[in-house]
Amino acid sequence: MSNLSTLMQRGTEFLGCDTAIMCGAMSWVSERHLVSAISNAGGFGVIACGAMTPELLDNEIAATKAMTQKPFGVNLITMHPQLFDLIAICDKHKVSHIVLAGGLPPKGSLEAIKATGAKVVCFAPALTLAKKFIRSGVDALVIEGMEAGGHIGPVATSVLAQEILPEVADQIPVFVAGGIGRGDLMASYLRMGASGVQMGTIFACATESIAHENFKKAFFRANARDAVASVQIDPRLPVIPVRALKNKGTEEFTAKQREVANLLDEGKVDMMEAQLQIEHYWAGALRRAVVDGDVENGSIMAGQSVGMVTKEQPVADIIAQIMKEGEAALS
Ligand SMILES: Cc1cc2nc3c(=O)[nH]c(=O)nc-3n(C[C@H](O)[C@H](O)[C@H](O)COP(=O)(O)O)c2cc1C
Repeated sequence: MSNLSTLMQRGTEFLGCDTAIMCGAMSWVSERHLVSAISNAGGFGVIACGAMTPELLDNEIAATKAMTQKPFGVNLITMHPQLFDLIAICDKHKVSHIVLAGGLPPKGSLEAIKATGAKVVCFAPALTLAKKFIRSGVDALVIEGMEAGGHIGPVATSVLAQEILPEVADQIPVFVAGGIGRGDLMASYLRMGASGVQMGTIFACATESIAHENFKKAFFRANARDAVASVQIDPRLPVIPVRALKNKGTEEFTAKQREVANLLDEGKVDMMEAQLQIEHYWAGALRRAVVDGDVENGSIMAGQSVGMVTKEQPVADIIAQIMKEGEAALS
């Protein structure tokens, strides 16, 4: 067994695949084609449920199963109003791993997932939360830094890894995410105790990804500095920052925040509804870019590793390259 396989062993045993490389769920992008391609290439694909209805998720899981015999996961957003119905759909298909994203899991949700027999993976944005999740019986953690694409926390991956891995990596598998573009960096997180990594940006424009060619071209052209975090304009309306390529849509988000802040002022919506409206805005904006190819007004969510994405490549080649770089770094 190579050095890299040894360092990945805990992760591969947990995920049930050949390499401990997860492709993080990306709304509209991580559907049957990309997810099955990742799992068929020895990685771990995760369906992005996003704002899907239970019926849509039902179809997507069935369609993915028809394209791969390998294990894959489903990413559910904790804020989804039908979270428990979505968990029931995962149970129907005996999905092996459920990744919960978007904030603290609501009461009873962890228990509901565990009752299906699935392993539950949560995002830990700080050491205290990592410890809390371990006490609650979560099976694995993802620690994701602010270099990542999509919704982000405030801390860099390198800092999270130093703070969290030495404290908890002996208790539970931890997957590091955010800004990873090459196998040498993956190898160094594995050496620090990580069980594997999660990447999104590097896979978003793979040959098997159904993202619109305009979306892919925007990725190929972009540099790290083009992937910027959204800004919060109203201190009362705490919006989770989103990292995306700078475009007109970035400014439209400012207008959207003003609109929702006004509704809050007028008492027309409560904070929960205000935050849901913001999330619906992002889901719609990302759809415009990924599905319709409107890269002017849509949201081209991308991490800072976007500068390393320069051409369309099959998923198997991307994974092979990362593994080769990882092996070389360790030998
Ligand atoms: C286009 C895009 C959409 C994303 N959508 C989601 C999502 O729906 N749910 C989620 O948990 N993470 C989402 N993410 C985050 C990824 O799952 C992954 O954790 C992240 O991309 C890893 O960091 P990296 O982009 O630096 O590789 C998204 C990322 C991107 C680039």
